[in-house]
Amino acid sequence: MNDTANRRSHARLGSTARILWSVAGSHDIQVDRLRDVSPSGALVATASVTRAGEEIRFDLLDDRGERFATGLAKVVWVDATRGMGIAFLALGIDPSLIAALASPEAPAKVLPPRLPGTVGGPPPFPGEHLVAARGGQVGVGVDTASDVDESDVDDEFAPQIEPLAVRRAGIIIGIDLGTTNTCASYVVDGQPKIIPGRTGSNTIPSMITFDPDGTSYVGQRAADRQILYPLRTVYGSKRLVGRTYRAQTAADLQEHFAYPLAEAEGQRFGVRIDDGVISMDTIAARILEEVRSTAEAYLGVSVEAAVITVPAYFSEVQREAVRRAAREAKLVVQRIVNEPTAAAVAYGHKQSQKARVAVWDFGGGTFDFSVVDLSAGQLEVLATGGDNFVGGSDFDDLIASHLLVEFQRAEGVDFDPDPQQIARLREAAEVAKRALSVQTEYLVEIPEFTREPFKHLRVEITRERFDEFTASLVSRTVAIATEVMLARALTPEDIDDVLLVGGTTRIPAVQTAVADLFKRRPSKRINPDEAVALGAALLAHEIGSGDAPTLLDILPMSVGHARVGLAFVPIVARNTRLPTHREVTLDADILGEVAMPIFQGESADASRNEYLCSALVSDRALQDRGRVIVRVSFDEHCVMAIDARDARSGRKLVTRLDRARPLEDILRDLGKPDTGAPSGAKPLAVEADPWKLPKSRLGKVLGKLFNIFGR
Ligand SMILES: Nc1ncnc2c1ncn2[C@@H]1O[C@H](COP(=O)(O)OP(=O)(O)OP(=O)(O)O)[C@@H](O)[C@H]1O
Ligand SMILES: [Mg+2]
Repeated sequence: MNDTANRRSHARLGSTARILWSVAGSHDIQVDRLRDVSPSGALVATASVTRAGEEIRFDLLDDRGERFATGLAKVVWVDATRGMGIAFLALGIDPSLIAALASPEAPAKVLPPRLPGTVGGPPPFPGEHLVAARGGQVGVGVDTASDVDESDVDDEFAPQIEPLAVRRAGIIIGIDLGTTNTCASYVVDGQPKIIPGRTGSNTIPSMITFDPDGTSYVGQRAADRQILYPLRTVYGSKRLVGRTYRAQTAADLQEHFAYPLAEAEGQRFGVRIDDGVISMDTIAARILEEVRSTAEAYLGVSVEAAVITVPAYFSEVQREAVRRAAREAKLVVQRIVNEPTAAAVAYGHKQSQKARVAVWDFGGGTFDFSVVDLSAGQLEVLATGGDNFVGGSDFDDLIASHLLVEFQRAEGVDFDPDPQQIARLREAAEVAKRALSVQTEYLVEIPEFTREPFKHLRVEITRERFDEFTASLVSRTVAIATEVMLARALTPEDIDDVLLVGGTTRIPAVQTAVADLFKRRPSKRINPDEAVALGAALLAHEIGSGDAPTLLDILPMSVGHARVGLAFVPIVARNTRLPTHREVTLDADILGEVAMPIFQGESADASRNEYLCSALVSDRALQDRGRVIVRVSFDEHCVMAIDARDARSGRKLVTRLDRARPLEDILRDLGKPDTGAPSGAKPLAVEADPWKLPKSRLGKVLGKLFNIFGR
């Protein structure tokens, strides 16, 4: 027998049933008597009423004083002498169970009389039941068989109750899984709200620390340990999640991570901790798990589903990795949405006029730029582009480098900092960067930076100097935005409004660059830290209600296959409207086999694009000069599917998608890139000169450090 059924067998919500409650966000726990209770709300006899409109978290205690249910409610009615009325916003059990368990005499009476926007008439108690209301919200329906004494209806309760945001199947939250910060949100009364982290802040640091004793910490507790355990604290995992591991890529990327990168199972990137390697996919799962449990603790209900956002410029394998990580964190992914699109949803909430907006999303690790057309009930992404390797943490690294160089110059010393010193430099750099967003100079001080000689670090940094050595990061974003608009023949004049999203847009030089490009001030309507999560929650809520706006998205990067000589042949071009499918015809080899390595990106050299998988087709019928038509399809959520058929007979062929074969072997078999124009490949507009983060002293130290630690 399951737990709920078990509770049902002895729980009783009689006259001694109590409620244990606290105002959301505060810890003042109160215990008061339940006067009336129904599936939609309760009356609480209490002298310590709180404000109408306030949200409270509560536990319902049954007659035996045992916790029966937990949840989130809104105070809809207060009376200093009688107590208060609360409407359940979320309830940790099937609400109909309350009706079944309340004693007919006490405390249950009739409650509440009428809910605006709900289906059905005045709900009698205990025969009321939940019905779907407009907007997918759950309201209270009437069991026509039960007879109700209308005089028992508490009139005061009626008008103040708004439609409930309770969902029978639990709540769907929106999650902005950020490189630096993760933010969750949910919708209550039609409005999206942030779910605070355990320490009360609106975001959770996307970090995890593995202590030497085997314990691990996620979020703020991990961030607090970064200086203590710099080699065991993983940050920025989103930049590596899902990506195919290659030794050369790892060696290049190591310069941007202060912990040792290593190859995890399945050709994934991972972190080396003691003798093992933990995959970045597992780390993403742990962060999502933390978000889920934080949300559950805050909302008091189980959270089983989410809309999760990813950078628009995420490849197919990266999106798939996030889906898998969510599954590992016991979250059903209702939809993966691009971050700039989610921000546009937040911007467009309750707006009906048409607008063409540009979303400038510059976060901790990623830059995304999208142009979105908004109209009533529809969002159409026109063009998108970005880079997963330009973000706030790169500004930190450049400042940290500057601090090190200045310190060494002033003190006349030359040394490679150890991991602790690197962590202290990066921490001080981030503080300095934020300060320089509001002031023009800042004195960085790191006490006892070196022991021998015993020295404090004191370096003054001006905004002007900071702007100088970070200028290439800003101009990279301007180049991307310009190219994205060009690809769709758009100019800055075609844009009605510009949205700034992500913490890095607080840097004055970034704001100036945006204003210069668009010749206008960006919109102030959305909060740059929260818009993505709020948009995700709105979508989550609307998907649940069947009222979701139509999202017309596009493929962010071309998908194609590699030919001999590593020529990349696009099959589905970047910016193609989704859903879509395209076909390509390939010759089978003498064994009747076709192996098609699939890559995503814009480089004419396949090895510079992201490897997705290989489509393998093998069939005896293909042995005699057979040909195969391979179809690559993307659904509207950007999920890829591949199938194949025999070109002669049209017969469907078994197609296997393989990721196990080492990428290095595939590249070796394809041979070196041709020096001339790659055969069959159309020249691609972008990537003449691939972007590389500026080289820095800190990067050099990190590269050296982890060569010593070994991969
Ligand atoms: N006032 C500020 N001035 C400059 N930078 C800031 C400021 N506030 C926050 N940041 C930076 O913004 C970044 C975090 O932004 P945000 O939380 O939007 O990123 P994220 O969502 O985690 O990353 P991404 O969207 O790239 O995956 C950090 O690098 C942080 O240092
Ligand atoms: Mg972000």
